[in-house]
Amino acid sequence: MFDPVASLKEFVRFPSVSTDSTQRDGMKGARDYIGGLLKRVGFSVREMPTPLHPIIIGRREGDPSWPHVVIYGHYDVQPPDPIDLWTTPPFEPEERDGRLYGRGAADNKGPLMTHLAAVAQLLEESPDLPLRITFLIEGEEEIGSPSFVPFLEKNRDLFDADFVYLSDTGSPNESQIVVTTGLRGIVCLQVDVTGPKSDLHSGVHGGAVLNPVQALTELCASLHDRDGRVDVPGFYDDVRPVEDWEREEVGRLGVSSDDYARFLGIDAFHTEKGYTPFEGVRFRPTLEFNGIGGGYQGEGSKTVIPSRAFAKISCRLVAEQDPARIQEAVVDTLKKRCPRGVSLTVTPGHSGAPYLVVPPGKPNTPQDQPAALASAFRAADRAIAAEFGKPPLYLREGGSVPIIADLKRITGLDSLMIGLFLPEDRLHAPDESFHLGVMEKGIAASKRILKQVAEGSR
Ligand code: BES
Ligand code: ZN
Repeated sequence: MFDPVASLKEFVRFPSVSTDSTQRDGMKGARDYIGGLLKRVGFSVREMPTPLHPIIIGRREGDPSWPHVVIYGHYDVQPPDPIDLWTTPPFEPEERDGRLYGRGAADNKGPLMTHLAAVAQLLEESPDLPLRITFLIEGEEEIGSPSFVPFLEKNRDLFDADFVYLSDTGSPNESQIVVTTGLRGIVCLQVDVTGPKSDLHSGVHGGAVLNPVQALTELCASLHDRDGRVDVPGFYDDVRPVEDWEREEVGRLGVSSDDYARFLGIDAFHTEKGYTPFEGVRFRPTLEFNGIGGGYQGEGSKTVIPSRAFAKISCRLVAEQDPARIQEAVVDTLKKRCPRGVSLTVTPGHSGAPYLVVPPGKPNTPQDQPAALASAFRAADRAIAAEFGKPPLYLREGGSVPIIADLKRITGLDSLMIGLFLPEDRLHAPDESFHLGVMEKGIAASKRILKQVAEGSR
């Protein structure tokens, strides 16, 4: 008998921090653990090497006429820092008030375990279930999945499937589940500004030179206008307009702007003109400063003109913006606006394309939408209504899972995404947790969905 909560606790115990090269053992532990579980459930398991963290593939083969679902998840997690702010240690999972606390409990070990538990229970109840399943579990999601596209290109035969199925997105509360219809893409850049060849005494040289911190902050400030729009020529050129039904769906979220502001601890929103905060995070692209530095950071004051300054920038992109074009537009703009007296280097980081799927029955659903995908969406609607008490909302999401667009581009596969994070789960932050009630209902809903997909083939 498969115990989902006990298995999740074991899984969370491994410090599988993909960005931290001192945590190789944690990565291997998580990989071996999830591979072992898949084997126990009856899957043939392969660990596929990549230049960095191996990908786990688990397969349940079957009659080629059966539907084939790829279930995606990631075994890597974000760093636990700042560790002092955790109530209990990040890799010593603890159950409190119906939640399991620990780094990765929600993002993404809990949701992955939800679908694995559903599969395990389903196969125990119906060992002859006419469904082929491939688990695709990667270890580089939190660092931009650098190995994923080459892997996909080399192993396309694994993905001769009907659709991808996953939970790595959110829902507003435990009784209102979201089927995620879009993810934002991303472009990351580091900007370095260099002025004089060394730090200078600000009394001796101040008045003669352009301060790199000033040059950088002016450059950064030039990237937005007063209406909250990104001031980079061409930035919005390819943005696909929002459909009326999507705005109506956002209106059904049942959360007020005031509640959202209180949740965030802010006294006013800063949204693009014409969009509510809930629309802004789903439908609009952004340019954000993730970090900025330069000059003296220590106690007290130090009268210096620093030699260098840097900023880390990321843009979130929406359908149909192209990451390469946006990267070029931002880099060109920065170069054009860089004043004389300092020099600029821009180093691109990782990027990923946005993703959008139109559910069946909505305006502009593609004519050639595969029948298996459409029936999976319908199965999800019914299953979520039955287990959570209300049918789902169909909403785009602000976060990014770039491999979803890669899978679409390279294999043609669309994704059915069920949002299982709640706002209180504190993804990427101290005291991350996963709601065990959502997990339980999620397992039941997932079983119904997979059963329906299998029965659709009869
Ligand atoms: N699960 C998240 C993405 C997410 C979070 C989607 C909340 C929807 C709602 C994922 O693990 C993540 O954090 N992705 C990164 C991607 C980046 C590293 C390329 C992100 O969105 O910052
Ligand atoms: Zn994440």
